[in-house]
Amino acid sequence: MKYFVLSAILAAAPVALAQQPVWAQCGGIGWSGGTTCVSGATCSKQNDYYSQCIPGAAPPASSSSSTASVPSGPTTTVGTPTSTSSSTTTGPTSAAGNPYADGYTLWLTPFYASEVTAAAAAITDSATKAKALKVAQIPTFTWFDVIAKVDTLKTYLAAAAAAGGKQLVQIVVYDLPDRDCAAAASNGEFTYANNGAANYKSYIDGIAAAIKAFPTVRVVAVYEPDSLANLVTNMNVAKCSNAASAYKASAIYALQTLNLPNVFLYLDAGHAGWLGWPANLQPAATLFGQIFASAGKPAAVRGLATNVANYNALSAPSADTKITQGNPNYDELHYINALAPMLTSAGFPAHFIVDQGRSGVQGIRDQWGDWCNVKGAGFGTRPTTSTGSSLIDAIVWVKPGGECDGTSNTSAARYDFHCGLSDAFQPAPEAGTWFQAYFEQLVRNASPSL
Ligand code: BGC
Repeated sequence: MKYFVLSAILAAAPVALAQQPVWAQCGGIGWSGGTTCVSGATCSKQNDYYSQCIPGAAPPASSSSSTASVPSGPTTTVGTPTSTSSSTTTGPTSAAGNPYADGYTLWLTPFYASEVTAAAAAITDSATKAKALKVAQIPTFTWFDVIAKVDTLKTYLAAAAAAGGKQLVQIVVYDLPDRDCAAAASNGEFTYANNGAANYKSYIDGIAAAIKAFPTVRVVAVYEPDSLANLVTNMNVAKCSNAASAYKASAIYALQTLNLPNVFLYLDAGHAGWLGWPANLQPAATLFGQIFASAGKPAAVRGLATNVANYNALSAPSADTKITQGNPNYDELHYINALAPMLTSAGFPAHFIVDQGRSGVQGIRDQWGDWCNVKGAGFGTRPTTSTGSSLIDAIVWVKPGGECDGTSNTSAARYDFHCGLSDAFQPAPEAGTWFQAYFEQLVRNASPSL
């Protein structure tokens, strides 16, 4: 039913920039687009970086304890819901099982829907535009990449709670000090040298407080993409080795603090072309096992997330030998099947979620380690619990397709050479910002087709 609501909104979206459509951005630091909303919507500040056209009147500025003032975003379900008749929502119970398998609805973040809606409005070819609009209905994780966005999490959880039923909100915890220690494109706001450990605790505490305030909403969280994987393979990089013990302490603090009854955590575990090399598997399993044990084996820790923001297939018909170069774990399924028994031996019987958001097209990379806005990529398998593996809870979309991996501007502070390689789509804006041409490529190359 909500689909129809969304379609109506999208159909009504104006082509001109003068007034922003419902859910679109209408302000924030760095925003140069329209700042007024179509009739029936109000431009409401979400955080310093983002104001949005919310249907109806603006929510009260200080509404952190309100569960009803913010309208919900459009929603969709994933997989094969097992229960449709239960109308009493008693809230999530424990992390014992697959969080995706018991009939929860994946809440659609209005932020990504607004990005996609605005992007579709800028596409002139009607067939491509229609396909692009479908992306707004596909559940994708929301990245909390700066502490200022934690207030937005409250807004989202309030909206999900107000929507009623069994709602599941997908988030990425991504503000570790000295973040992205082996690369440059996604360096974050905190450093350990400048009060980072304490700042990070505040960030984690804020997320935990928001989640506690809405105990009926289930939260699936991917924990800190690339962080622990960097400690497995990039200890030769000074920024990584210097931060290693602090990364571990921060991770343990986060896992303990987010160990809440309605939370399911998946630690980021790189991908087949990173930790899936035979020599890296055991060190990875040992590290993840240590972190899990040191945190006291929190019930909320369900397992690991793989292929986040990457391009590997879950199950490739054959190896892309140009890049996999003899690694028998040439796709995510092989990687997971190889890693899981080692994790179990290390005391961490992990389950997995696998990002397939941008994995629709294979055979497009010159090197397996190329990760930045890879040319030719397409949207991939839709989120589903039909994974073909009892180890894998769900196929998910973690990287919001259309948000950039890193700038190609060689003079930018966060320029990483990977974003200037010949298999990287250029010119590209800063990491995390909207990359219209890349989004259109993902739409055109989607497999399955949109
Ligand atoms: C960026 C983040 C962004 C995330 C999702 C990362 O590469 O550094 O700022 O939130 O991608 O698009």
